[in-house]
Amino acid sequence: MRVVVTGAAGFIGGHVAEAMADAGHEVLAVDALHRSAAPDVARDTWAHLADRAGVALVETDLATDDLTKLAEADAVVHLAGRPGVRTSWGAGAAVAERDNVTATRRLLDACRAVAPGRRPRVVIASSSSVYGSADARPHREDDPPRPASPYATTKVAVERLAARAAEEGLRTVILRYFSVYGPRQRPDMAFHRFIEAARDGRPLPVFGDGGQSRAFTHVADVTTATLAAATTDLPPGTVFNVGHPESVTVRDAIALLAGLLDVRPLVHEHAPAAGDAARTWADTTKAGRLLGWSARIGLAEGLPDQVRWHRDRTEPVA
Ligand SMILES: NC(=O)c1ccc[n+]([C@@H]2O[C@H](COP(=O)([O-])OP(=O)(O)OC[C@H]3O[C@@H](n4cnc5c(N)ncnc54)[C@H](O)[C@@H]3O)[C@@H](O)[C@H]2O)c1
Repeated sequence: MRVVVTGAAGFIGGHVAEAMADAGHEVLAVDALHRSAAPDVARDTWAHLADRAGVALVETDLATDDLTKLAEADAVVHLAGRPGVRTSWGAGAAVAERDNVTATRRLLDACRAVAPGRRPRVVIASSSSVYGSADARPHREDDPPRPASPYATTKVAVERLAARAAEEGLRTVILRYFSVYGPRQRPDMAFHRFIEAARDGRPLPVFGDGGQSRAFTHVADVTTATLAAATTDLPPGTVFNVGHPESVTVRDAIALLAGLLDVRPLVHEHAPAAGDAARTWADTTKAGRLLGWSARIGLAEGLPDQVRWHRDRTEPVA
């Protein structure tokens, strides 16, 4: 299968592009590295992909460049964008609008312009943030959206664009990812910040009191779900939660991490971040039924992978 992976220099995109190549697909990795919030990490991932057999690279800005060639594929896995709730306030809102909404609209238009019958399946990254906070039960896909930040609002808009394209026959699939972690995690994300702070002997920077809880999901599980969505026949417009079924408090996650790092968990509490959900919690019954997928890696098993990655990238080569 010919697969285009957008955002391939990014955290999730890098893993998905590699896994697609491992599965024998012909991969076109697409990214605009200058649009990344972490260009150094993106450059490393890009260089890593350049060495992979079965992966071709192209630098393309989805918000401005011609996308005709990208639509000539069997599947387009669209992971490019500007993630992050905290950074989407103020000037960040226009960046999120451009790289999430404008980029997706242009990509969907390019896919729609292909002759019917040759149009790619289009898998699109959305986010648990479209739900707001979970109260008494896990989020289900048909719960009404309650976005609480500019970032979440862009993801609701992206989902609407995909739903409209699906009504016109494009085979879109929406994946709502929940707090993804693992090797190459973005530098603005919690575990990345915690592990680097602990390594430098600084207190761990926590937003709020650590009582907020998250469906922390290992990137390997996210990658498996994404490959399944790109290779399974589904009704156009299908939406899936992609999250670990357990919702763990940040406080408990820090205790686990402190044990792995063998440090005393000193914490520096910052004001709670505006728009951050008190709790994210994933019901993945639908992904189990239609994709045969469920998250397999719990935090105790998965966190050591990320700790190892941080150690490997900082330890001097002997
Ligand atoms: N990481 C998570 O926990 C998480 C959770 C929910 C949703 N998501 C979504 O998953 C997707 C991937 O997230 P990530 O954590 O890998 O982010 P990331 O920032 O690591 O990767 C995104 C990539 O997209 C590229 N990009 C941005 N704008 C572009 C443009 N206009 N044209 C081409 N490339 C562009 C960036 O250069 C970057 O390499 C995003 O859509 C994000 O909103 C991520």
